[in-house]
Amino acid sequence: MRFSGTTSYIATEDLMVAVNAAVTLERPLLIKGEPGTGKTVLAHEIAAALNLPLLTWHIKSTTKAQHGLYEYDAVSRLRDSQLGDAKVKDIGNYIKPGRVWQAFESEPGRSVLLIDEIDKADIEFPNDLLLELDRMEFHVYETGETVRAKNRPVVVITSNNEKELPDAFLRRCFFHYIRFPDRETMERIVAVHFPDVQKRLVNEALTVFFELREVPGLKKRPSTSELLDWIKLLMADKIPPEALKSKDLKAVIPPLHGALLKNEHDVHMLERLAFLARRESR
Ligand SMILES: Nc1ncnc2c1ncn2[C@@H]1O[C@H](COP(=O)(O)OP(=O)(O)OP(=O)(O)O)[C@@H](O)[C@H]1O
Ligand SMILES: [Mg+2]
Repeated sequence: MRFSGTTSYIATEDLMVAVNAAVTLERPLLIKGEPGTGKTVLAHEIAAALNLPLLTWHIKSTTKAQHGLYEYDAVSRLRDSQLGDAKVKDIGNYIKPGRVWQAFESEPGRSVLLIDEIDKADIEFPNDLLLELDRMEFHVYETGETVRAKNRPVVVITSNNEKELPDAFLRRCFFHYIRFPDRETMERIVAVHFPDVQKRLVNEALTVFFELREVPGLKKRPSTSELLDWIKLLMADKIPPEALKSKDLKAVIPPLHGALLKNEHDVHMLERLAFLARRESR
């Protein structure tokens, strides 16, 4: 079971090493990186490459660790007891397994459990999940049973760094930071998404894209997902590569820049730069 990227995902050497190390160590793989650098998609690709089922647990600000283990539906039980339903005798009927439990039950083999955007939850969340992920077991108080992983899942945890994770949690993970792709890697990423795209268009688009990322003071630098959206639009609108070309790229605001820049501050800044560049060249 070795991960070496897929036909739809470009994995750099260090990423492959990290994935395989986490799988071998049977420790959660903690993935950080700028938004849109392929953290979530990575878990899908690991599942596809290793031919394992994927269970996604998407974390929100209100998510508690307990939700991943199980939830006890006391309201339904009360209602059923009022209605005289025989179901109430077995409390197990009201225990709803969460994603972690489902991953522990995976048969015949392991599954991939994606805990997506762990930093969205409150600070206690990682600590509350520590022992369960380490021992791969937990206790269901209502029924008295202990749930143990039949097969230890491959756990992938993503974070955008909105909150620091506790040291005790970090100790138990294998960590990998997805560095922003260099130009050559980005070309390969574009190629897996758009195999038929014109080479010249990609070349010009990448030049604009990487220059744009270098503009100082941008609030939100465009990343891989924005670039892919932009190239898709350029192709759909049949924008010729020449339209992206300019001696001084700052003098021209790139067409369809709404796909790249996501707030008015950045758009204004670029407009100002373009204005100044035009005035200087006069
Ligand atoms: N290495 C890669 N190979 C192929 N496609 C990639 C790669 N990296 C990113 N992408 C593409 O970029 C897009 C964004 O990826 P994804 O949603 O996984 O990012 P993310 O890091 O989870 O972002 P966020 O932090 O905002 O959730 C997807 O369409 C994905 O296919
Ligand atoms: Mg994501």
